[in-house]
Amino acid sequence: MEAANIRQVVGEFVPLKKRGHNWVGLCPFHPDKDPSFSVNEDKQIFYCFGCGEGGSAIKFLMKMQGLSFPEAVKTLASRYGITVPERPLSPERRKKLQLRDELIEVNEKAAAFFHENLLSSRSAAEAREYLEERGMDSSIISTFRLGWAQDRWDALVNFLQEQGVNISLAETAGLVMPRKGGNGHYDRFRGRIIFPIRDMQGNTVAFGARILPGKDQDDQPKYINSPETPVYSKGKVLYGLYQNKSAIRKAGFGVIVEGYMDLLALVQAGVGNAAATLGTALTADHVKFLKRVCRDWVVVFDGDAAGQRAAARALPLFYAQGLNVRVLSLPVEDDPDTFIRREGKERWEELLESIPSGLDFILDRGLELHGRDTEGRLRTVEEAMGLVDAVDDAVRKSLLISRIAQKTGVREESLWERVTRSGRPINVTKVKNNNKLSVNRDAEVSPPNLNSAEAKVLGFILAHPVFMEEFVDFSLEMWIESSQLRRLWDAMVNLYSQTGRLELSTLASSLETMPELRSLAMKLSGAFPPGDNPQQLCEEFKKFCVHRKKKALRLHVLENLRAGEENQDTETLLKKFQQLL
Ligand code: UTP
Ligand code: MN
Repeated sequence: MEAANIRQVVGEFVPLKKRGHNWVGLCPFHPDKDPSFSVNEDKQIFYCFGCGEGGSAIKFLMKMQGLSFPEAVKTLASRYGITVPERPLSPERRKKLQLRDELIEVNEKAAAFFHENLLSSRSAAEAREYLEERGMDSSIISTFRLGWAQDRWDALVNFLQEQGVNISLAETAGLVMPRKGGNGHYDRFRGRIIFPIRDMQGNTVAFGARILPGKDQDDQPKYINSPETPVYSKGKVLYGLYQNKSAIRKAGFGVIVEGYMDLLALVQAGVGNAAATLGTALTADHVKFLKRVCRDWVVVFDGDAAGQRAAARALPLFYAQGLNVRVLSLPVEDDPDTFIRREGKERWEELLESIPSGLDFILDRGLELHGRDTEGRLRTVEEAMGLVDAVDDAVRKSLLISRIAQKTGVREESLWERVTRSGRPINVTKVKNNNKLSVNRDAEVSPPNLNSAEAKVLGFILAHPVFMEEFVDFSLEMWIESSQLRRLWDAMVNLYSQTGRLELSTLASSLETMPELRSLAMKLSGAFPPGDNPQQLCEEFKKFCVHRKKKALRLHVLENLRAGEENQDTETLLKKFQQLL
């Protein structure tokens, strides 16, 4: 791919000024007062001295817009007129993608219909009044494209039919339902305020719908949602994340709330850094999406016991992804909506200044709930160790364990005995003497060991290129020891970033001038005949890669630790460490 100039790409989001050799501006990825963000055109990279974020134009777009690698490549391509060859798709895959496009198109039509109704239909007068009562102004209504579904059986059915939409497509989208016993369809959403739900690219994938107060005589639920469809699964989408992602990055952290109206009330009050789950518990998939946007999150839960249990269940998901998480407990009678409307933005921000980390929340709550006697402390330790077990990095584990020891008075050594999974704190002197990674790696000329784990990883990816996306994040170039394998990996990344796919035949022809790499690729991929359980293998290889990447990074961290920084507090060390991930 012709390189898109990084200054042009970044410049669309960040005003840049020339300073010496570089271009500088305010970092969009952390709260920045002095310009610590710089772009170097010669090297085509950006780097922030404040938060440590850095990389290519593709990396910038991935972070800025929460895109996957191929999505970012595609965006660059379409914006700068660079053509990316279309993937030849299998017929099933093509069909699936086409259905996706069609469902999104129907959803967009419905969203426009509902929105138009809310703005101008007479039947929406009460809905408009209700939203006004709840403090929603017209800019919120248009940003979130709120809508109104008339209290009729066929308003949307008729509209879609007039638009020439195939009604069974609307059924698959969850917008209409077949009439029992007869023919024809009826509207799913009737007499409700509509909240269109968007995915990370801004596609409308589903709807939430709230009944007006006083209308729930028939024991109808207050909110209903679209069912799961080929474009929507509620465990993967967060309401408002698409609209709010840049505000979240700006703030340096995001807040997770439970309700549509909570999210909107926060935005209305000037607190844009929020996203909402949709009447479900937070899932591991949710957290993966959050991780694409930023590393620091606050979960807000009701002050009651059920809310606290929900918080305790959600926390390990953040620890497992290496994210920072804090917990905000509101007064029992409040949700974020009622709180911020009564107390205002300043009180909200004040509240956020003094909230505990996830671990402290578990420890404080445990000691209060179970007591400080032996039995109580034991139970608290058990609960807190649940978070430690979720973490698979030894440095982080060690920091958490110190904290548990400090708060419960249990000796650290005993806590280490309790750690079930990957091990003990790293012995610094041992690492020092065994610092393999710093030997000159490029000196190697001998062919790589085809049975080494790193060779297996490359072979697996070559044989199952659909998994390439999942491996690009593991910085293989940083830790693959064999120089030939490293060069092969570089070639794979190049091809993948140019074409969005990784076909063996294309790779082979791109390696025409490097026959030794070409035959290496062939041999490696041959070791993985189709058939086995690739998904499972993929997971195992990913675990290995995470491990190797962290090991490589840890060496740098340990250098820092040794450089006399032992006195820094846990939080600072954690932050430092995470910047390296
Ligand atoms: P709540 O019952 O706390 O409602 O449900 P809320 O968000 O405070 O709503 P308002 O302020 O009365 O308008 C929290 C979330 O749980 C889901 C919705 O996503 C809601 O926002 N929920 C709730 C449902 O899916 N169905 C329901 O019947 C109720
Ligand atoms: Mn509420």
